Amino acid sequence: MVLIGFMGSGKTSVGQQLAAELGLEFADTDAEVERVTGLSVADIFARYGEARFRAEEALAVGRLAGRPGLVIATGGGTVLDPANVAALRRTGRLFWLDVTPATVLRRVRRRESRPLLRRRSPQEVARLWAERRPFYEAAADFRVDTDHLSVPEVVAAVCKLLAEEGREPRCGK
Ligand code: S3P
Repeated sequence: MVLIGFMGSGKTSVGQQLAAELGLEFADTDAEVERVTGLSVADIFARYGEARFRAEEALAVGRLAGRPGLVIATGGGTVLDPANVAALRRTGRLFWLDVTPATVLRRVRRRESRPLLRRRSPQEVARLWAERRPFYEAAADFRVDTDHLSVPEVVAAVCKLLAEEGREPRCGK
């Protein structure tokens, strides 16, 4: 299964916990890019630019999407590329962890590690968020409103959706 959504929506924390609960392996497209390139996401942006990061990200998606039994957390911009969405769809359901810009700003304190939030005003973050929303909406099989939920509560909400589909009997056990 795949977690999508804006920066600070909790994809990594939720994904780790979900994978532990389901006995699946966790993978993160940003971490995969960092593993393969030996550079941090921030360094790739700074040294080579966003286009290079997107190319590495697409390769990471291709690699991870081919592996069964994974919970995959994506980067906030992964689903802007339709080829990434198509590849991720083949691996499982896409869960959109939705979040408001105000919560993003509150959660993402360490903005230095996220090049697209660095030195951005709240208005600029809100604009990026609004630009991205239609992409998450179009790609998602399910939306979870995470704004007032803790990580375990989001995990429980995703599990409930899976259980309703009869897909994940291990959820909540
Ligand atoms: C990005 C989100 C980041 C990371 C990169 C670009 C984006 O991932 O992939 O900084 O375009 O929204 P997180 O959503 O995990 O912060």
